[in-house]
Amino acid sequence: MSFIKTIENDIKNIIYKLGYDIDTVTLAISNRPDLGEYQINDAMKLAKIYKKNPREIAMSIVEELNNDKRFTNINIAGAGFINISISNDYLIECMNKTIENVYNNIDLQEKKKIIIDYGGANVAKILHVGHLRSANIGEALKRLARFLGHDIIGDVHLGDSGLQAGIVCLEMKDRFPNLICFNENYNGEDFDLPITSHDLSYIYPEGSTRIKADEELLNEARNITYLIQKGHIGYCKLWDKISSLSIKTIKEIYEELNATFELWEGERITFDIIPEMLDMLEKKGLLYTSDGAKVMDVKEETDDKEMPPIILEKSDGAYLYGTTDLATIYSRIKRFNPDEIWYVVDNRQELHFNQVFRAAYKSEIVKKETSLQFLGFGTMNGKDGKPFKTRDGGVMSLPDLINIVNEETLNKLNPAITDELDKKKISRTIAIAAIKYADLIPYRSTDYIFDPNKFSDLDGKTGPYLLYSTIRMRSLLNKAKEQNINFNIIKTLKNEYDKDIMLNILNLSSIITKAYESKSLNELTDYIYKLTSSYNKFYSENRILDEQDIILRESWLALTKLVLDTNLLLLNILGINCPEKM
Ligand code: ARG
Repeated sequence: MSFIKTIENDIKNIIYKLGYDIDTVTLAISNRPDLGEYQINDAMKLAKIYKKNPREIAMSIVEELNNDKRFTNINIAGAGFINISISNDYLIECMNKTIENVYNNIDLQEKKKIIIDYGGANVAKILHVGHLRSANIGEALKRLARFLGHDIIGDVHLGDSGLQAGIVCLEMKDRFPNLICFNENYNGEDFDLPITSHDLSYIYPEGSTRIKADEELLNEARNITYLIQKGHIGYCKLWDKISSLSIKTIKEIYEELNATFELWEGERITFDIIPEMLDMLEKKGLLYTSDGAKVMDVKEETDDKEMPPIILEKSDGAYLYGTTDLATIYSRIKRFNPDEIWYVVDNRQELHFNQVFRAAYKSEIVKKETSLQFLGFGTMNGKDGKPFKTRDGGVMSLPDLINIVNEETLNKLNPAITDELDKKKISRTIAIAAIKYADLIPYRSTDYIFDPNKFSDLDGKTGPYLLYSTIRMRSLLNKAKEQNINFNIIKTLKNEYDKDIMLNILNLSSIITKAYESKSLNELTDYIYKLTSSYNKFYSENRILDEQDIILRESWLALTKLVLDTNLLLLNILGINCPEKM
């Protein structure tokens, strides 16, 4: 358990023994550390309940706290706020226990089985900026949950059943009419795909333009999409092969972003179970026909906004986005029986997920206790405040976006790095860090503006600043090692600079818990910046390696190691790699 939580529990017991019933005590980080590093406001609450003077209650609590060596500088402010600080000895003890094992300072969560649906790339289409946020936020949430003890599975949930399937197959038929899969008596034998993944980057856009101008082609593409849904042997084989080719590219991009999925499943795998699911819904009397389509009502009495029914089968028998999502839940529950399913998807899809979740609960596909959570995110905008686009207004592909930032980081690269391969690799790692960190800074559902110049700046709240500082800590420790200086344990602290770092480390768990509870990484991005800045302040105020007091020098180095490890831990949770040098 974390040190702060332990203290909170102990104080709660003290208050309980004084005769007051109280569920939790909170040590709030004070914004006036000169008065006390933490504040306890519970006396005010108790005074109301017990109709007593808050100051009197506070005084009786303080009397008990005064006997505890972990605390110093205990005083009462205003009507009954208790200010309290942590004694240096205890602070150092906490730091050493954290060095021993970070989990000595972490509050684990009660273990749950969770599925996280993120990524959501679309087969045969290019990944765009919308997929960036899902990958970054989803991956970091997954790593965070895992760090806190959950059993969590990531599913990329590829978009592979939409109209793009029909469009691309139609284009293929037009370009390669002699492919055996188009034969009337094709029986599933293997064949070589006559295209490369590069070709895919223009086949879909060209097809998409063509169907927009030609109603007949559009209908044909729709029909092929439908045939794929119903298992047509030739089109299914072709689409399988195109999917595999496209997934290779998709994997490369996700790999570069450090997004790793346990499951590489898509919408299509639900086609086998959709009939069974629809049958079940039909038997429960939940489906009705509207304009020939099979729909289900998901309205609730308390709704104050319009809640349209979810369409599960179109009049021509085709399935929709809602059908595959509901069927995916149906299948996930059967296969994994999770406690929670999270969806990291663009805010603009909230209504869709509302409908799907309601349908899942109403039909009892999901038990009441199972939590389906929509973790929506805002968009990355251009300077005009609209979703970031290419110069001619088109969709910005993810690789292009990474390249834009990479140009900046390459320009700003340390001129001491001259090896061409090094330059390429390092600037790329920094670019990804710059993008990912900037993407995780705003609260999850807030929009933000794409600013490659700012993101790649070495100063300020940026990925490169964090990497640079972290690397500097590492090289300081390497120098100490070269000089055979030990740094295993913190024995002393000297000034407000080293102390501030320690207090930040003491708060690690509260921050991590907050990030988890709000499912937003901004808590972590703020914290790592604060900790790093606090360290850099300390670094510039003290000459660590030249310090003559050996005990102090060793303590400072051990503290440096603690900050380094904490930074690496947090960067890892954020899914950001740190290069060896930069
Ligand atoms: N493929 C979708 C898109 O690009 C995102 C998928 C989100 N996940 C889901 N289960 N529907 O918009």
